[in-house]
Amino acid sequence: MNILVTGGAGYIGSHVVKQLGELGEHKITVLDNLVTGFESSILYGEFINIDLSDFKRVEEIFSENKFDAVIHFAASLVVPESVSDPLKYYLNNTVNTANVINLCLKYKVNKFIFSSTAAVYGEPSMDKIPVDELSLTAPINPYGSSKLMSESVLKDASNAFLDFNYVALRYFNVAGASVDGKIGQSTKDATHLIKVAAECALGKREKMYVFGDDYPTADGTCIRDYIHVEDLASAHLKALEYLEKNDKSDIFNCGYGHGFSVNEVLDTMKKVTGVDFKVLKEDRRAGDPAALISNNSKITKLMNWTPKYDDLELICKTAYEWEKKI
Ligand SMILES: NC(=O)c1ccc[n+]([C@@H]2O[C@H](COP(=O)([O-])OP(=O)(O)OC[C@H]3O[C@@H](n4cnc5c(N)ncnc54)[C@H](O)[C@@H]3O)[C@@H](O)[C@H]2O)c1
Repeated sequence: MNILVTGGAGYIGSHVVKQLGELGEHKITVLDNLVTGFESSILYGEFINIDLSDFKRVEEIFSENKFDAVIHFAASLVVPESVSDPLKYYLNNTVNTANVINLCLKYKVNKFIFSSTAAVYGEPSMDKIPVDELSLTAPINPYGSSKLMSESVLKDASNAFLDFNYVALRYFNVAGASVDGKIGQSTKDATHLIKVAAECALGKREKMYVFGDDYPTADGTCIRDYIHVEDLASAHLKALEYLEKNDKSDIFNCGYGHGFSVNEVLDTMKKVTGVDFKVLKEDRRAGDPAALISNNSKITKLMNWTPKYDDLELICKTAYEWEKKI
């Protein structure tokens, strides 16, 4: 297939490009403005440095290439920033996405894979965990809303244009790095727990914080469903197969279906690195649900997706090994 990958220089996109490239069957074109991505992370395909808001140039690229599928990662994704600068999120995550979808319709690209997020579920109460794809969507910040709006654009487009099909993947907490050590998460000023803990273990940060230890969980800290980035990447390859075989659109959770508390993650990072880094307690942050865990039975059944790295120690270890290199 001839595949366009937006945001393919980023953390998750680069792992998908790597897996697609390793198959050796596809032509890959990566569009990225490198605002948070790195050209060195793109191991396969042609790279075009472009901002998706440049609609004219993006359309030229569609007209010059006959793409079969688009995998759309490009987005802004810092939740607190989305609260202080919501328009940045609606413009980049919704308007630019709507434009890419529109070009797919115009140039007859009928397979679309979209990076959505568990943030569309907002703050489900403990009795609603794990969440499945039919659970209430109620985002509590502009980031989550901007992604849910893009899901709506996709749904309406596929209803109106029957040849056009999409898969929206709702990622839970993505972590770790490629097990061969070639790529990983290089995001600057990352807020992701496992990356921050790896930075602490290496002394890149002096300390880190646990936000809230009075949640209704066994140890009082928040529980999240951590998915290794290579398992998440393989879900995209499965989604491509799904779109090839089935003439329909769908939404899938991407997680392991179980979670770990913040304290469990920190204990694991300390164990695998042998470093007892400094952790301080802080008040709860607004908008952090006590637990967010996926029900992943839909993706495992309908796509036959089988995760290989459902192992918190391996997730922490690969994140730490990558952090050592950068
Ligand atoms: N990392 C997570 O835990 C997580 C969880 C849920 C969903 N997601 C979603 O997954 C996708 C990828 O996230 P990531 O963690 O790899 O982030 P990332 O920041 O590493 O990757 C995003 C990439 O998109 C590029 N980009 C952003 N805006 C662009 C624009 N206007 N034009 C061209 N390129 C642009 C960036 O340079 C970057 O390479 C995003 O859509 C994000 O919302 C991520």
